[in-house]
Amino acid sequence: MAGNITFTMVKPDAVEANNIGPILAKINQGGFRILAMKYLRLTPEQAGQFYAVHKERPFYGELVSYMSSGPIVAAVLQKDNAVADYRKLIGATDPTKAEEGTIRKLFAKSIAANAVHGSDSDENANIEADFFFSKLERF
Ligand code: RTP
Ligand code: MG
Repeated sequence: MAGNITFTMVKPDAVEANNIGPILAKINQGGFRILAMKYLRLTPEQAGQFYAVHKERPFYGELVSYMSSGPIVAAVLQKDNAVADYRKLIGATDPTKAEEGTIRKLFAKSIAANAVHGSDSDENANIEADFFFSKLERF
């Protein structure tokens, strides 16, 4: 397999704003190949499980209800240095601090509704990809 993987979601705010297409274009222009992709809505239980690492954080309840508030696009992306390069492409968690041209600077509404998710380590990229996709769903 050429390169390694990261996992992303187009979050409910960006889906609602009709920005799936422009965000996928930025992902492709950034040199990422899509290995797997699906469109779905998480239940609150599933969103809580996905973000269980943030259980003790003050924003956990808000994050879980937001991430289950509407459909998302989940995808596995492949590129050399995928995790770090994708976090560079999406920009800072808070869109007011994100660099010009990044996905969050262009499309995020707020620190909570920040358009996209990106894995923070190779280990979590694999855990997150396994949460959404079976081996049969990856190419
Ligand atoms: P993500 O996991 O979604 O890629 O975002 P991240 O690594 O940049 O940020 P992280 O610290 O992992 O936080 C996960 C998500 O929680 C929401 N959040 N809300 N209200 C707040 O202060 C706050 N802080 C974080 C954001 O949706 C963030 O992406
Ligand atoms: Mg994170």
